[in-house]
Amino acid sequence: MRRITRVGIVTDRDDIRKLCEFLLLKPEGYPNYESWVRKAADEIRLGHKKAFACVRNDEMIADLILQRDKKDRLSLEIKNMRVDPRCEGNRIGSRILKLAEGFAAENGFRRIVGDIHSSDRKTINFFLKRGFSVLAEEKLYRKEQMETIVFKDIQGH
Ligand SMILES: CC(C)(COP(=O)(O)OP(=O)(O)OC[C@H]1O[C@@H](n2cnc3c(N)ncnc32)[C@H](O)[C@@H]1OP(=O)(O)O)[C@@H](O)C(=O)NCCC(=O)NCCS
Repeated sequence: MRRITRVGIVTDRDDIRKLCEFLLLKPEGYPNYESWVRKAADEIRLGHKKAFACVRNDEMIADLILQRDKKDRLSLEIKNMRVDPRCEGNRIGSRILKLAEGFAAENGFRRIVGDIHSSDRKTINFFLKRGFSVLAEEKLYRKEQMETIVFKDIQGH
């Protein structure tokens, strides 16, 4: 049977529920991750966070969650991005990131920022290859864990 893969913005209740299940499959090693997921779902419902997802047949296989930066109102922060490991290397990450960049451009944002564990060279290289640059390295979540902050300025700003 032919697989149907679609990438889009998450708005309806059923997709938000599927997104939560997908997020909870792999605790990211961030403090209080489960309560963060529950709060994120509420914020997506309210429109304070924007979520993009990839669904194959009826299964969610990737997500990207954006939120307006609290300090810089013209920046969007990537709060979570993950592709199901079984589906990596099929350009799903590239497609979902392009969609998020399109959303940023259409809505007048100037910059997208994100942070990645500094030990995760594969993901850092993924972002660098897609036009992001390193802004800083900081300890954001745990005292023993450095995070690499990456950014990309949106075309036309
Ligand atoms: C980083 C990540 C989002 C990339 O998603 P993806 O769908 O695999 O991305 P793509 O297929 O578009 O590109 C992956 C790159 O790795 C290559 N690749 C090939 N086989 C691969 C495999 N088995 N696994 C991963 N990457 C592979 C692709 O060809 C591509 O190369 P390029 O950068 O030279 O173009 C995904 O690996 C992931 O979820 N990582 C873990 C979660 C994480 O750390 N998130 C970041 C927090 S912000």
